[in-house]
Amino acid sequence: MFPRPTVKRTYASRPRQYPSSPHTSSPPATPSAQESPIKRKRPLLESSSVNEPPQKRANIFGLTSKDSKPTAKPKAKASATSKKKDNGTKKLTQLHFVVDNAIRSCPLCSLSYTKGAVDDEMVHKKHCARVQRGLEWGKEEEKESEKAGVRVIEDLVRIQGPKGAIHGRTICVPADATGRIGSKISNLLETINFALSAPSLTPEMLKASKVYLFLTPSTTGRERIAGCVVAQRITKAMNVIPTPTPDTQNNAVRVDGGLYCSPQLHATPLGIPRLFVPSTHRRQGIAKLLLDAAAKTFVHGYALDPSKGQVAFSQPTGDGRKVMEAWGKGGVRIYQE
Ligand SMILES: CC(C)(COP(=O)(O)OP(=O)(O)OC[C@H]1O[C@@H](n2cnc3c(N)ncnc32)[C@H](O)[C@@H]1OP(=O)(O)O)[C@@H](O)C(=O)NCCC(=O)NCCS
Ligand SMILES: [Zn+2]
Repeated sequence: MFPRPTVKRTYASRPRQYPSSPHTSSPPATPSAQESPIKRKRPLLESSSVNEPPQKRANIFGLTSKDSKPTAKPKAKASATSKKKDNGTKKLTQLHFVVDNAIRSCPLCSLSYTKGAVDDEMVHKKHCARVQRGLEWGKEEEKESEKAGVRVIEDLVRIQGPKGAIHGRTICVPADATGRIGSKISNLLETINFALSAPSLTPEMLKASKVYLFLTPSTTGRERIAGCVVAQRITKAMNVIPTPTPDTQNNAVRVDGGLYCSPQLHATPLGIPRLFVPSTHRRQGIAKLLLDAAAKTFVHGYALDPSKGQVAFSQPTGDGRKVMEAWGKGGVRIYQE
């Protein structure tokens, strides 16, 4: 039997639990999350099994250091309050930890957090809003757009989705932008990475990337980021085997998510390492619109054709795979970030 090569995972299988405190009585990791043989990007709402805290809490969600300071403490309920004896010595009392149902997994954003822990609830609220509705793109960002090299790809976009028409515009931002726009992009990417349990893109990758955003007017008078595609310059990628048989599988590269690729690497100019649409804006064609924008404009003066293998995804999630197959008509390749 041939050994079956697999693509080295580029996404952490780290589940999305916000650590309220390293000492909370979190339930132990569930085997389903840790032992699954198929590991991949964990898309939003696909699984709620979350167990282990992200390693660097302070950077998650782009909160300020004050915001992100772990203030949540182990939930402890004293059976009796500590009382000072008349002579001033403290009477020791037994503490009992309350662990019942403290960990909640949000069905809307899949984040696990400790109910009642102020810090956890605050971070969850912020993350949940971003995952459902997207981050805001305000006048402050708009003011810096020119300086940051933001390009309007298409103004006055109208997409006719199943829930009605959606209006907005598509812009393209250098992924390594600095200043206010740089912070916005890094907050956005942190939210996406956290929702996907994906690692941060390295500075080198950001330098070779452009971020395509779909902005739609919101009720606050500002715009909202209703979709994001990160497009990066790559060199090689593999063809997906459309219908793998036991025979072809033996010589194939198995990619997380159940895809099989032939191991030969082919010259490919464009890679899509991140793709995200907030949950309230899905299935309206926004991902497709942004992918089209990236394919048309990433290489100056040359429109790339996904159906001809000129675009690759890094290991896609279940939903990502559906978009990849629908948009690229089977021609989209796979690459390792
Ligand atoms: C994947 C994701 C970006 C798709 O965004 P979207 O704006 O809803 O996608 P689109 O509306 O442009 O879908 C284009 C086509 O892809 C296919 N598709 C997209 N989502 C699908 C789903 N959940 N189920 C089945 N087909 C789907 C459909 O063929 C769809 O066309 P249709 O709606 O006319 O049938 C979005 O679901 C998301 O952000 N998911 C969580 C993050 C994630 O998994 N990202 C992918 C990383 S690789
Ligand atoms: Zn939530």
